[in-house]
Amino acid sequence: MLEDIFHSPTSVLLLGVVVGLLVLRFFNFSFSAQERHEPPGPRPFPLLGNLLQVDLKRLDQSLFALSKKYGPVFQIFFGLKKVVVLAGYQTVKQALVNHAEEFGNREITPVFYDFNQEHGILFANGDSWREMRRFAVTTLRDFGMGKRMSEEKIIEECRCLIEEFEKFEGKPFDNTKAINYAASNIISALMFGKRFEYQDPVFQAMVERDNETIHLTGSASIQIYNLFPCLGPFLQVRSNLMKNVEDGKRDLRKIIADLKETLEPEICRGFVDAFLIRKQSLEEGEITSSYYHDGNLLYSVMNLFAAGTDTTATTLKWCLLFMARHTEVQDRVVEELNRVVGSRQVRIEDRKNLPYTDAVIHESQRLANIVPMAIPHTTSKDVTFQGYFIKEGTAIIPLLTSVLYDESEWENPDTFNPSHFLDEEGKFIRRDAFMPFSAGRRVCLGEGLARMELFLFFTSLLQHFRFTPPPGVSEDELDLSPVVGFTLSPLPQNLCAVSCQ
Ligand code: HEM
Repeated sequence: MLEDIFHSPTSVLLLGVVVGLLVLRFFNFSFSAQERHEPPGPRPFPLLGNLLQVDLKRLDQSLFALSKKYGPVFQIFFGLKKVVVLAGYQTVKQALVNHAEEFGNREITPVFYDFNQEHGILFANGDSWREMRRFAVTTLRDFGMGKRMSEEKIIEECRCLIEEFEKFEGKPFDNTKAINYAASNIISALMFGKRFEYQDPVFQAMVERDNETIHLTGSASIQIYNLFPCLGPFLQVRSNLMKNVEDGKRDLRKIIADLKETLEPEICRGFVDAFLIRKQSLEEGEITSSYYHDGNLLYSVMNLFAAGTDTTATTLKWCLLFMARHTEVQDRVVEELNRVVGSRQVRIEDRKNLPYTDAVIHESQRLANIVPMAIPHTTSKDVTFQGYFIKEGTAIIPLLTSVLYDESEWENPDTFNPSHFLDEEGKFIRRDAFMPFSAGRRVCLGEGLARMELFLFFTSLLQHFRFTPPPGVSEDELDLSPVVGFTLSPLPQNLCAVSCQ
């Protein structure tokens, strides 16, 4: 059979062309890159590209190391896919802020497509994304994102979290679940107008699934799937991931259906109600083809839930771990809180009088670096950037690791050092290279809410508890290496929350 094929002159010609193209594709790489002045980068192998030169389990670190060799704008091949990496504060800022439009599209990888079919906010582009993002920002602001109304909700949730921690009576426990529930309840309040009890099994399942989804999305298997989607049906991790996503959709559809049934347009309870009311009013005006459809509702809620829960909870877990690890820093935070606030509830307006505490939260966010490669972007048009030609549709990684650990911006990038955010008189100073929420057109839309949550949760917890390693474990023995997923979270480990009231 094979022999028959090779005896046919057309087949031999075709085979020759395919092999020739592959060889040209490989050997021609550096020639064409120089000709069009594309960014430099390590030489790729045929088919695999540079996959063997990076550690997929800690890709951000590998890319950071490569940036030291190839410069702040370099290209790398994942399989046949070319990706341009932007490294260092100056370059990332210049691209995302000064060339916001060119670098502002989202890359829709196969797994992101599977999640949302390009609806919603996180993994969407074009007019639909613009409208959904605008609607989310305005509605969440109307519901108090970054304002007093969310302050009240967060304070209420702080009390529940403190009660939960008290149940352990100072004995060692893993705080992951309770913190996830607390962060999730803030988004729930904004989305659905209600919080859930931490014991509610449906709520627990929703939060745990989200957590697992974020972890699996960053796994090496899913990165391989993104490069070779045809392998999808053979990858167990992908099946587990998609099951999670489908189960999550089922639960959210049910919550949305309940809200729809009890909708009273005069009493808008949250984002879902606001969306349904907008949809109804457009339909009454006989505008049938708008972006306000069920797909955009479901996926926007899913996105806000996923993006708003894990990130904030993970950051708070890092903050507490750093406190148990650096007790002298914890002592100074507690001293400042006692001196400035005393035993009353901390409010947002206290922040300006708590410079050391504020610096500690910022430094924890910097060092924890929980979204190390942002979420991949693509170029929306051909662009010449720092003298390099980057074609429309090229995948872009804004390497936030290289910004938050930029040696030319931070005095001791690898060390936990709150002084990064303090002047000589101990006053809080903003640092431009503090970019954990990214920047530009795709900057995190929950930044204001997240900052409020972190401040109120952190200070309320430190007013009530002293965080220590379990008995018999020294501070130095606490493990600060991250679990790598889509975000970097602390290794699950027990801490003690010893009541100090
Ligand atoms: C400490 C907490 C948080 C951190 C560190 C964080 C960080 C980020 C980062 C790095 C991005 C990607 C930006 C880019 O692509 O360049 C992002 C996007 C996003 N975040 Fe956050 N985030 C946090 C909390 C939140 C919260 C509380 C919400 C919800 C209210 C939220 C909603 C979103 C959404 C919807 C996007 C996608 C924006 C778009 O594609 O237009 N995030 N976030």
